[in-house]
Amino acid sequence: MNLPFKIDLSGEVAVVTGGTGVIGGMYAKALAACGAKVAVLGRSKENGDKVVSEIEKDGGEAMAVSANVLDRDSLLASRKEILDKWGHINILVNCAGGAVKAAQVPQDHFHEAEEGAETFFTKDLENVHKELDLNIYGTMLPTQVFGEVLVGQDNANIINISSMSAYHPLTRIPGYSAGKAGVASFTEWCAIYFAKSGIRVNAVAPGFFHTTQNHALQFNEDGTPTPRAKHIVDATPMEKFGDPEDLVGALLYLVSPKGSNFVTGVILPVDGAFHIFQGV
Ligand SMILES: NC(=O)c1ccc[n+]([C@@H]2O[C@H](COP(=O)([O-])OP(=O)(O)OC[C@H]3O[C@@H](n4cnc5c(N)ncnc54)[C@H](OP(=O)(O)O)[C@@H]3O)[C@@H](O)[C@H]2O)c1
Repeated sequence: MNLPFKIDLSGEVAVVTGGTGVIGGMYAKALAACGAKVAVLGRSKENGDKVVSEIEKDGGEAMAVSANVLDRDSLLASRKEILDKWGHINILVNCAGGAVKAAQVPQDHFHEAEEGAETFFTKDLENVHKELDLNIYGTMLPTQVFGEVLVGQDNANIINISSMSAYHPLTRIPGYSAGKAGVASFTEWCAIYFAKSGIRVNAVAPGFFHTTQNHALQFNEDGTPTPRAKHIVDATPMEKFGDPEDLVGALLYLVSPKGSNFVTGVILPVDGAFHIFQGV
């Protein structure tokens, strides 16, 4: 893969949850290209194996592990598998997460709802519950399981994935917004809690990218952009969507002891200035 710059992670071992996804897969490849051994964690081992074979094709070392970030026993089993093979773990990237489509509220503002339409009031909050679980609990539980073995390791790092919705809630996705605000808060909490134990804890907050997770919000079925996609570009001072590869430099900076040794508790936006822009 094309790296924006290279850091030396040889001898290091990273676990990437959601390593089978768009951002997680890219992060797994980037860490491997810098010399780390990478465990690609997702529920589907088959999807993990695909990422592993791409890493191996590029000369890197990786293994696919199947685990559910909401299930402690499966995480403990994957931790054992990784430790048995590579002996230690010093980097955890919590990439598993995302929005649950059925949790979306269909309009930006209540007064826009047509009579009889689904609104926030008629929403089944069970789906919001799933979304909060996946993003918050799905970050906390791997942090508990893998964080325990990060203690005492050189260059011990946890990187979480937050979102623009953590700074200001985005319309239509109250559960996801609350979930990612929770991830940001937990990142800061962990940074303080682990500060003297040598584990740095930071997060990347991606702006807007065209990925599978947000495709339906950004494109109509005929492939034309939705009004929401136009609002996003208008609200981004750099006036464009990001390229997912723009997220790699932020990760490499945060896991590099030379680059960010005194940096912990940071939620690093990669967003073309979306999160600070008020429109005037
Ligand atoms: N895409 C964006 O523009 C964007 C913007 C801001 C933030 N983010 C955040 O960035 C992260 C990655 O996003 P993405 O676009 O790469 O998502 P993605 O392509 O949907 O990947 C998410 C991955 O998480 C894994 N996963 C889901 N539930 C899991 C579970 N219970 N246990 C273990 N693994 C699970 C899935 O793999 P399996 O199906 O194999 O389990 C999937 O491959 C997410 O936290 C997302 O919220 C994305």
